[in-house]
Formats: sequence, structure tokens, C-alpha cells
Amino acid sequence: MLNDVTPKGLLSLLLVASPAAAVKLWATSYNDHAIYTLNLGGEGLTVTSKSLDCGSEPTWMTLDKGKSTLYCLNEGWGGEGSLTSYKVNDDATLKTLDILPTLKSPVSASLYGPNNNGLAIAHYDTSTFSSFDVKDTSSLSLSQNETYTMAGPGPVPDRQDVPHLHHTILDPTKKFLVVPDLGADLLRVYALQKGSIEWAEIDPVKALPGSGPRHGVFATAGPKTFFYVLNELSNTITGYKVTYAKGALTMERLFDFSSHGPGGSVPAGTKAAELKISPDQRFVIASSRGENSLMMPNLDPRNSTAVPSDPLISFRIDGATGALKHVQTAAAGGRNPRGFNINRAGTLVASALQDDNRVVVFSRDVGSGELTGVVGWAVVGEGDGNGPNYTLFDE
Ligand SMILES: *[C@@H]1O[C@H](CO)[C@@H](O)[C@H](O)[C@H]1NC(C)=O
Ligand SMILES: *[C@@H]1O[C@H](CO)[C@@H](O)[C@H](O)[C@H]1NC(C)=O
Ligand SMILES: *[C@@H]1O[C@H](CO)[C@@H](O)[C@H](O)[C@H]1NC(C)=O
Repeated sequence: MLNDVTPKGLLSLLLVASPAAAVKLWATSYNDHAIYTLNLGGEGLTVTSKSLDCGSEPTWMTLDKGKSTLYCLNEGWGGEGSLTSYKVNDDATLKTLDILPTLKSPVSASLYGPNNNGLAIAHYDTSTFSSFDVKDTSSLSLSQNETYTMAGPGPVPDRQDVPHLHHTILDPTKKFLVVPDLGADLLRVYALQKGSIEWAEIDPVKALPGSGPRHGVFATAGPKTFFYVLNELSNTITGYKVTYAKGALTMERLFDFSSHGPGGSVPAGTKAAELKISPDQRFVIASSRGENSLMMPNLDPRNSTAVPSDPLISFRIDGATGALKHVQTAAAGGRNPRGFNINRAGTLVASALQDDNRVVVFSRDVGSGELTGVVGWAVVGEGDGNGPNYTLFDE
């Protein structure tokens, strides 16, 4: 698989110039049950504070910058999950506002509705879609929920025993939420009710059998809208053309190919993870776990031993057709890049390496869409494995 790395894709680990203004971000970590506040500045990436109020298994974070509020999900492996709201201070440290117990296994959230007063959540283990009233950020409450069942297991029975809702995505018109269901091979669709945070389910989109849709993104190009979903079980990306008519959202499948691009393949045990769109809507980036088939220079400049890494794979969107063209397969900064995020300018990518207890920030060329070097890294999460799971920029 090393020949998968183009010379350009092999990241030089020379520290490229750090951004002029301090950049702040957060990372969640399981093994020490914490949210970290990190600062990227002249000294590289440094940990500035830690909060333990997001419960036992902190995972997904959602920022409402306008309200200076950060929401954090706790998967609650032991039983109950929780949703914590934080006031974000100027230095990105956090002050707890409220902690609401939720059904187990919330894994992804999206703000929606008037003034971002709704927070929609996908629950993985418990096959549930739920929404919360977050109008008063210090007093959160459950609004609506729906739990799903299946008549029998899907084509990949050990992973598709029951529905597994994995992501919540607000569409560009802000009138629909789409929720990939890895267990049921569906993209569930919810129509948002005007002027409130209520929703009603409409017909889902059928994903390819056994694909296991996990995370998705919408892309707009002029009048056109596309949807891309990364499938964890088939390790493919499916592209759709989106159309709106009569209060419904429908999707027509355009393609389905390897997470490494057309004709690509992955080793056994690979689990595709995250999919993000660049802020300019011109590129998508996928992360893939369990490959470890790339080698990258050690992040410690005094250590000449190369280390294994999973990939971050970038694709350029053809705005006329919705096709994706492979641009780069780059080292993700280590093993198990479950969550990563792009800053608003599109110039930085922060990657959470769950199996290496590390967060790495890369510089990114907005024109070519390529990752161009490491601008900082930090140890996040103490103890073996199950380190950082998700990262988010404070902006
Ligand atoms: C974090 O990791 C856990 C399991 O290791 C997984 O269930 C969850 O989906 C991950 N969260 C994100 C945001 O990827
Ligand atoms: C769903 O909502 C109802 C009331 O709105 C509540 O009683 C129930 O506990 C909720 N169930 C889940 C699974 O959240
Ligand atoms: C150099 O890096 C390798 C791979 O991470 C590690 O096993 C080794 O302990 C490091 N050596 C030193 C002297 O830190």
C-alpha cells in the first residue's frame, strides 16, 4: 500500500510556519474522560485546560459560535449517556451550564431550527433519533424521539443486527435532517417544521445493501446539490444528486467506489470513519481506520524511527456532475483517525488519532486541496489506546 502514497502525498514533517493569530480547538478523549482545550501558536500545539463534565465517554462536539456555547455528547457505555452544554470563554476554556442525562450512545449532533434552538442527536446502540430543546442553554430538555427496529439482521449480520443511527446532517436549505443508519442501510430523512424545532419523518433513501452508511456531507455547486456518504462496512463513498420537490428531499445515486477512489482497495479490518467537506464546497476528505499501511516520519524530530499511520483521503468535487476525483492520500498523523475537522478558512485540518493518544494539526493548500505539512501536535488522553475521538476548531 505504500505505493498508494504519491510523492506529494508523503508529508514532509518540517514544521511549516504557524498561523499568526492563536488558533484554539478542542479534543475529546475517552480514556481520561475529558475535553481538552488546545492552543496552536508559536510553541506549536499545547494543552491549556481540561474539563471532566462531559461524562465517561466524551465524543462528538457541536459549537454554536453565535451563542458562545459548546455541546458535548457522552456515549455512556455503562448505561446512560448525557449532553453537556458549556459556555465558551474567550480563551476557549469551558464553563459548565447544564448536564442532561440522555438515552445511551449519542454519537453525533446537529443544531437546527429557529435561532439554533434544536439539537438533533443520533444514538447508535439504542437505534434512536432524538431532538432536544436547547433554547435556554442552561436548561436543556428532551423534545422528540423515535426508536427503530428491523425485521431481521442485514447483509452484514454482526454489525447490522439492529438499526444503528450514526450521524445527523442539516441540509443546505435547513429544512431537512439526514441521518445515515449503518445497521439498516438507510439515509433517514426528517422534515423540519417551519418556525419550530418539531420534525416529521419522510421517506428514507435506500443505501446499498451491506454498505453501512456512517457519515455524510452535503455539497452545493451553484443550483446543484450533492450528497456524499462514507460507508463503514463496504469502505466506499456513495455520491447522490439531491432534488427538492413538494416538501420532500430525494436522492438519486450517481456512483459508489472505494474510499481510496475508483478501483481502490483496503486491507481486511478497515473501517471508514469520517467525511468532511471543505468550507469552499470544492473538496471532501475521508478518514479510514485500521489500515495502518502508510509510514510517516516520527513527530519527534530527534527520533528517526518512522511510525505507522492511517490515511486522510482528499477528493475534488466536479460541480457540474457531482463526480469525485482523487487528489491525495496523506498520512493522518497516526492510527485510528476517527474524527477530524477543517477550520473555516480551509487552511488547517485537525486530526484525532484514537490509538496514538495524539492530535495533529496539518496545513492545507486551499487551491489544490492537499495537506502540506504538520503545524503542531499534542499528546491527548493518558493511558493505552482509546484516546482522542473528535476535534473541533473554536470558530
Ligand atoms: C468515538 O469512538 C467510539 C468507539 O470507539 C465510537 O462509537 C464513536 O462513534 C466515536 N465518535 C465519533 C465522533 O467518531
Ligand atoms: C421519548 O420521549 C418520550 C416522551 O416525549 C419519553 O417518555 C421517552 O422516555 C423517550 N424515549 C427515549 C428513548 O428517549
Ligand atoms: C522512537 O519512536 C519509536 C516509534 O514511536 C518508539 O518506539 C521509540 O521508543 C522512540 N525512541 C525514543 C528514544 O524515544
